[in-house]
Amino acid sequence: MAIESSCDETAASVVVNGRTVLSNIISSQIDIHTLYGGVVPEIASRKHIERINQVIKKALEEAHTGFDDLDAIAVTYGPGLVGALLVGVAEAKAIAYARNLPLVGVHHIEGHIAANFIENPDLEPPFLCLVVSGGHSHLVIVRDYGKFEILGRTRDDAAGEAFDKVARAIGLGYPGGPKIDKAAREGNENAIDFPKGKVAGSLYDFSFSGVKSAVLNYLNQAAMKGETVKAADVAASFQKSAVEVLVEHTMQAASDYHIDKVAIAGGVASNSRLRSEMEAACRRTHRAFYRPSPILCTDNAAMIGCAAYYEFIKGVRHGWDLNAVPNLKLGERV
Ligand code: KG4
Ligand code: ZN
Repeated sequence: MAIESSCDETAASVVVNGRTVLSNIISSQIDIHTLYGGVVPEIASRKHIERINQVIKKALEEAHTGFDDLDAIAVTYGPGLVGALLVGVAEAKAIAYARNLPLVGVHHIEGHIAANFIENPDLEPPFLCLVVSGGHSHLVIVRDYGKFEILGRTRDDAAGEAFDKVARAIGLGYPGGPKIDKAAREGNENAIDFPKGKVAGSLYDFSFSGVKSAVLNYLNQAAMKGETVKAADVAASFQKSAVEVLVEHTMQAASDYHIDKVAIAGGVASNSRLRSEMEAACRRTHRAFYRPSPILCTDNAAMIGCAAYYEFIKGVRHGWDLNAVPNLKLGERV
């Protein structure tokens, strides 16, 4: 059984042999945080405490299992909000101690990447993965299970953060990613020419603060001139620019490193334009393309159970001193 509580989703899941998901329960706090326009860490921690026992109970019920049937307890221990992570870590340690079960701590991003294994039984490393979420944007070669080579990362805002900030600026509210995705369908993507998030001298790094500022400048200038702005056009033009750079860098890396399997992961991997553009680019270059269903792109515990399985069979075990590590690096073991 796996537990995930790194941000604003309280989640538990029972997974068999890393790839078969028996239950995947997610209790989202989005409604509460929407009132504040973003995740409030203190509220997130409190809500995790209120909900985690029910979420675990439901995960066991739906999987028709009890604590006696489990072989190990897995939990996300970083990166994320420290107070939020601590709730899951303390819960996992308590269950593992009480039931005398092995404890496996999992890196949240390793979980996002592993989400691709769940619905693609044929997918095995090595492959290239673009991980884009609210807190992270990484371009990674998955050399083996749990073995990563990071080729690129964002220099400033994460991709999801950029979607969220632009959505707020054009009045779409929180969480911005899905709202921009939806609004963009009604807009003209060529209406405004926003810059692409490139970084000089770096083929694979991203930078989203430039395009975010360009959107803000565009809105300010329109306001000063008394012009009305079509939010759908801004959403579509921004999305086009953000997705273009994500696809270009990924395909550049796939070509440079001769990789024929490309995957995407993380909350932004739900984006319909990213999914279709990456799929088309892979088709054009004869590469296999993998993406999790949207329910496995968002924060969930099934992906943590999947990643934990491969750590478990390698012999990774954590002790009762396992702690939350808010800025845990990918591939690092604590
Ligand atoms: O992976 P995730 O659920 O949480 C983190 O680990 O951060 O990612 C959440 C992020 C948010 O920024 C959200 O706006 C973005 O993913 N997101 C999207 C879409 N759905 C969620 N961004 C673009 N298009 C979407 N359809
Ligand atoms: Zn996440």
